[in-house]
Amino acid sequence: MIRTHLFALIFLGIISLNVAPPFQNSPMDHAECIFEEGRRAGNGPRNLTIDCTNPQGRKYSCTYRGNPHNCQWYNNNNQARYYIGLADAAARDQPTACSRRSLMHRRQCRHIVFNKIQ
Ligand SMILES: *[C@@H]1O[C@H](CO)[C@@H](O)[C@H](O)[C@H]1NC(C)=O
Repeated sequence: MIRTHLFALIFLGIISLNVAPPFQNSPMDHAECIFEEGRRAGNGPRNLTIDCTNPQGRKYSCTYRGNPHNCQWYNNNNQARYYIGLADAAARDQPTACSRRSLMHRRQCRHIVFNKIQ
């Protein structure tokens, strides 16, 4: 718990999303998951890749893709918080962190949808 919060604090303090923070909530399979942003320069679409290991040691991953740049809140220095929100949507009350076909932040940028591509 302390580790998670420390990681989140460090994470929120920087814009670079090339780090892979742990999920704040676990999916129902109790997997441990991390997420990372896949990006190219510019305002194009972004990938959100989720990597998990379940308690039996089985690994799984998935990738969602969407373009968040048409959202003022995201652009206003909230990129890290936005992806934390997507990761939360992926895990919360879901059988696995890859069960959803699409992801949306629950409170911000609700017109932006990340669809599963892998
Ligand atoms: C997003 O994922 C797709 C499918 O794996 C890949 O072809 C593409 O290069 C990725 N894009 C970025 C920006 O990481």
